[in-house]
Amino acid sequence: MPRLGDDAGAAGFSLVTLETVDSTNRLALDLAEQAGANKTWVISQTQRAGRGRHGRNWASPPGNLYASLLLVAPCAPADAPKLGFVAGLAVAETLRSIGLTDACIKWPNDIVVGGAKLAGLLLEGRLIKSNRQTIAIGIGINVVSAPVLAEGRAVSLADLGLTFDRRDVFRRLSNRFTHWYTIFDRGAGFADIRRAWSEHALAEGTAITVKLPSGMREGRFLGIDEHGRLQLDAGGSVTLVDAGDVFVSEEDNG
Ligand code: BTN
Repeated sequence: MPRLGDDAGAAGFSLVTLETVDSTNRLALDLAEQAGANKTWVISQTQRAGRGRHGRNWASPPGNLYASLLLVAPCAPADAPKLGFVAGLAVAETLRSIGLTDACIKWPNDIVVGGAKLAGLLLEGRLIKSNRQTIAIGIGINVVSAPVLAEGRAVSLADLGLTFDRRDVFRRLSNRFTHWYTIFDRGAGFADIRRAWSEHALAEGTAITVKLPSGMREGRFLGIDEHGRLQLDAGGSVTLVDAGDVFVSEEDNG
């Protein structure tokens, strides 16, 4: 039976477990109108219509981790995207704690190993009737299998020789999230999140290409700014990027 980590339970998080659902993010957001739903994790063995970033599908066969956390009014609405960095950091630490010392965060919050994607995050928000902003932080981790991606490569813990149960991974994740969420402190602690996130992210100076609605931009990764925007050094001028997909250039892909 899946359960929360002890620290998460002690901090007032709760857990809903399912065998199947269309999307744990969808369900988490739908719970938001219920009293006491804040800080509820939803995990499911499979998803029938898992959602990825930019409207993509997230293949969700059994064995991998599909988890969403519902937060009701966790911070000022303008700070809500910063929760992605809290979650990305928690996922990276979870994976490092089970032996993946080279797991690293690729902006905004993909977790990659040797250039292949091991985990992804999707934040979705909704305003509920009481006019409070709610956020579902959706996390998918390839525990036993990796999908074939349209762009780039994916990998699973099993491919990397690590035999883990998704429930163990979740327990650790819920504890690490609890730790960093306390430090986040409704956004006041984002400087600490940013510092720790940077220690788990691609090295500054890594050559990357960013796919933007306006086209592809090449440059070097310079970390994130105080709002979580990607700083791209494109030959002398720094561009700030709010949203896009990052590809590590071959020269830096190991
Ligand atoms: C990405 O495209 O990288 C984000 C993938 C997010 C997938 C997770 S699985 C749990 C949660 N429920 C969903 O429908 N999507 C997220």
